[in-house]
Amino acid sequence: MIEMQHVYKMYPNGVEALSDISLTVEKGEFVFIVGASGAGKSTLIKMLIREIVPDSGTLKVNGRDLVKMKRRDIPYLRRGIGVVFQDFRLLFDHSVYDNVAFALRVTGYLDRDIKKRVPEVLEMVGLGERLKCTPRELSGGEQQRVTLARALAGMPSIIIADEPTGNLDPKTSAEIMDIMKTINIRGTTIIMATHAKDIVNSLRQRVVALRKGCLVQDKAGGGYFNEDH
Ligand SMILES: Nc1ncnc2c1ncn2[C@@H]1O[C@H](COP(=O)(O)OP(=O)(O)O)[C@@H](O)[C@H]1O
Ligand SMILES: [Mg+2]
Repeated sequence: MIEMQHVYKMYPNGVEALSDISLTVEKGEFVFIVGASGAGKSTLIKMLIREIVPDSGTLKVNGRDLVKMKRRDIPYLRRGIGVVFQDFRLLFDHSVYDNVAFALRVTGYLDRDIKKRVPEVLEMVGLGERLKCTPRELSGGEQQRVTLARALAGMPSIIIADEPTGNLDPKTSAEIMDIMKTINIRGTTIIMATHAKDIVNSLRQRVVALRKGCLVQDKAGGGYFNEDH
């Protein structure tokens, strides 16, 4: 599902953000990417959605070669991936329904299918009753549920999340993680970058740790990571 071999990435300012990263993720896995601020987590995440291209090394996602990929093929890659960011990136003047519907429309879903799918996926994240609200009328946790619904709507095989609980309190974070777990149990692969130790410790999933751009730990059934990371 994800095959990354000996990947390097240096930014134009000379910062080596990723250094010789090799990582394989199979279908259905739940993988935490952990590490201190600046360790390279977001760079890795952006690489998986082809926002950033490796300087060297190989990278395949869902069978597609992201190094050789042409710009016009990027939308096909992204259709198979649901992305969740820390800062929600919602359309704040539009309803919860529209936020999810727009995402489906741009990927070419038919109106008929959108009408069926949007309530279904909002129900899944516990927002079945809030379709008509705008994000402004929702709490931070509810807003993040909308982004989860939006990410899930197109039935992606992978959900990629960059610090999805970064702006949430512990209780709300736990609720979001419950949804993530359910999504994973239903078969969706999850890659989640975070530095929330409590969450990583409590979920006991695979933990990949980065430090200064290097992969320093890859532990199945993780459950903890070293403070020094
Ligand atoms: N667009 C950029 N230009 C230059 N340096 C960057 C850029 N984005 C990130 N960096 C640097 O690359 C390193 C890794 O950053 P990042 O991947 O954002 O780490 P993390 O998400 O783990 O905090 C940091 O040193 C950061 O300052
Ligand atoms: Mg980051």
